[in-house]
Amino acid sequence: MNAPEVSPHGWLAQHVARLEHALDERLPASDTYPARLHEAMRYGSEGGKRLRALIVYATGEALGTPAEHLDAPACAVELIHAYSLVHDDLPAMDNDALRRGRPTVHVAYGEANGILVGDALLTLAFEVLAGDTVNDAAARIAMVARLADAAGSRGMVGGQAVDIESEGRHLALEALKKLHAHKTGALILSALRMAACTAPALATDQRAALDTWGRCVGLAFQIQDDVLDVESSTEKLGKTQGKDEAQDKSTYVALLGLESAKQRAAVLFDEARAAIACFGPHGRALKQLADHIQQRDH
Ligand code: IPE
Ligand code: IPE
Ligand code: MG
Ligand code: MG
Ligand code: MG
Repeated sequence: MNAPEVSPHGWLAQHVARLEHALDERLPASDTYPARLHEAMRYGSEGGKRLRALIVYATGEALGTPAEHLDAPACAVELIHAYSLVHDDLPAMDNDALRRGRPTVHVAYGEANGILVGDALLTLAFEVLAGDTVNDAAARIAMVARLADAAGSRGMVGGQAVDIESEGRHLALEALKKLHAHKTGALILSALRMAACTAPALATDQRAALDTWGRCVGLAFQIQDDVLDVESSTEKLGKTQGKDEAQDKSTYVALLGLESAKQRAAVLFDEARAAIACFGPHGRALKQLADHIQQRDH
């Protein structure tokens, strides 16, 4: 008997719920010593769209990997992402007071806790991967390597460093693309690559197709983030500029203008969908996820 068709919305909701449950099991309880830190870690992990975890699960579907094998990498990538946002918002970085519709961790819990929550979420991500009891040791080590590479100085942290360094300077398009590939793209790519660690015999062209999906969606995602920064500030908040412009950040919008930036993102989403055609019907979740990410408005 064939599995019942799951509507795109059903698949997304199901896997967000799966991630929330898996993450809840892995985060220390908020009454565990030291309680305030653990409460703040949970606060900093809540409320995201969980797109990176959804990418792990969708890639797993393309590869025929059972979802139980994907819970650890899905949690790990969301923990790294949450940590990166907690630190991104700190006064020394973007100095933001709001995140996910509520006060940032350092505003709610103090600056020292903002730093420590980030440190602890980062560490927990690797504990989750190393201590996973479902995947074999080779797969777990490969996942740790993929995630460490994407999160560190050659990936996200490197991108954050260049982002800060570039404030007030005007980057050329290639330099901005490289910055985005590090700051946002690397972690998104790691979500696909960690899932691919569960399928070591994967054909080279399919591995390359996953990388193309990841690179295209990764870049499109940060372009959208830049677009939404302008649109949400000007439309919803009635401000004349977004926070990126206020901080003199290099963005796709600053470089290309709003309409060209949107077009660039649309082309990249098309490229991502085209790349995974080689998975046939198994690529359905990745296709739907590209649609879902493209349609996001926050
Ligand atoms: C926001 O990422 C920050 C960037 C890397 C551009 P998301 O838009 O995925 O944030 P959440 O997790 O849904 O809050
Ligand atoms: C954040 O980029 C990227 C990382 C945390 C790695 P932004 O600084 O543009 O994200 P927002 O706009 O604050 O969510
Ligand atoms: Mg930033
Ligand atoms: Mg920021
Ligand atoms: Mg931004």
